[in-house]
Amino acid sequence: MGQTVIEVRDLRMRYGSVDVLHGVNFTARRGEVLALLGPNGAGKTTTIEILEGFRIRSAGQVGVLGVDPAHGDEAWRAKLGVVLQSWRDHGRWRVRELLGHLGRYYAPYSTAERARPFGTDELIETVGLGDHADKKVSRLSGGQRRRLDVAIGLVGRPEVLFLDEPTAGFDPHARREFHDLVHRLSDLEDMTILLTTHDLDEAEKLADRIVILAGGRIIADGSADALGREVAGRSEVRWTREGARYTHATDDATAFVRELFKQYGEGVAELEVRRNSLEDTYIALVQKHESGRVEQEAPTP
Ligand SMILES: Nc1ncnc2c1ncn2[C@@H]1O[C@H](COP(=O)(O)OP(=O)(O)OP(=O)(O)O)[C@@H](O)[C@H]1O
Ligand SMILES: [Mg+2]
Repeated sequence: MGQTVIEVRDLRMRYGSVDVLHGVNFTARRGEVLALLGPNGAGKTTTIEILEGFRIRSAGQVGVLGVDPAHGDEAWRAKLGVVLQSWRDHGRWRVRELLGHLGRYYAPYSTAERARPFGTDELIETVGLGDHADKKVSRLSGGQRRRLDVAIGLVGRPEVLFLDEPTAGFDPHARREFHDLVHRLSDLEDMTILLTTHDLDEAEKLADRIVILAGGRIIADGSADALGREVAGRSEVRWTREGARYTHATDDATAFVRELFKQYGEGVAELEVRRNSLEDTYIALVQKHESGRVEQEAPTP
């Protein structure tokens, strides 16, 4: 088991008189890719920005690389990479100049194991902006700007990378390349990556662990497989027999199919087993949470 890099204990956040986070707990180990999921307004950006040191929490304990983000110094900040949900404007810069400029900031923090910053041209190729390196940032398309955001997050070769909806606006090709990049960064550079996304297929592909935030609390934490097992009717088995179509939901598809063949043998055709997708699991878990909350809040007779 790797070293704990992100630690969040009973994190609370209140905006004015509204509580947004009600006691959030999770941890991440070195090299782990964590996907933080949850409905709009669940508190994902709030949580990430607290970890980045951009917002000051109302209560609870938070550590990133062993440091409380509310008191992180420059040396600590240099080990983090940040891709915010909303765009910061660098419109008049050209892509290569901007990355070169931002990279220089990290040079004093270069170490034998971690050469900082990332080489500008290598980074530009890595995020697929090779053809746009000399363009002004204000002239980039939405998806190209997002790729630049990712490059800005990576330029200091961070130990911990925070990505808030990094692939919003990516075309399918850019998305796939981004997925390969995340795998490389976590495998080869041992980077710890915390990302948010509303693309559950993406979360399933990328994340070692999924953390679901709803109503200001963590309602699920585990691998996509483990979360799937929490939800009943995990797999759907479909087949045809004597011209008729059948569908059956089961927790143990293997046992069910074995029994099916024992009974009907060659009569079974067009067999299909469909596992619960992360999307099915997510929707079931969030719904369960929401119905539970309604019950809790209902007035007592
Ligand atoms: N600066 C702020 N002042 C007051 N309320 C805020 C502020 N920032 C966020 N909120 C509120 O806190 C809640 C959580 O917002 P947050 O941006 O963390 O959600 P999110 O999970 O990132 O949502 P999304 O998926 O839409 O990005 C929302 O109800 C939002 O309106
Ligand atoms: Mg957000």
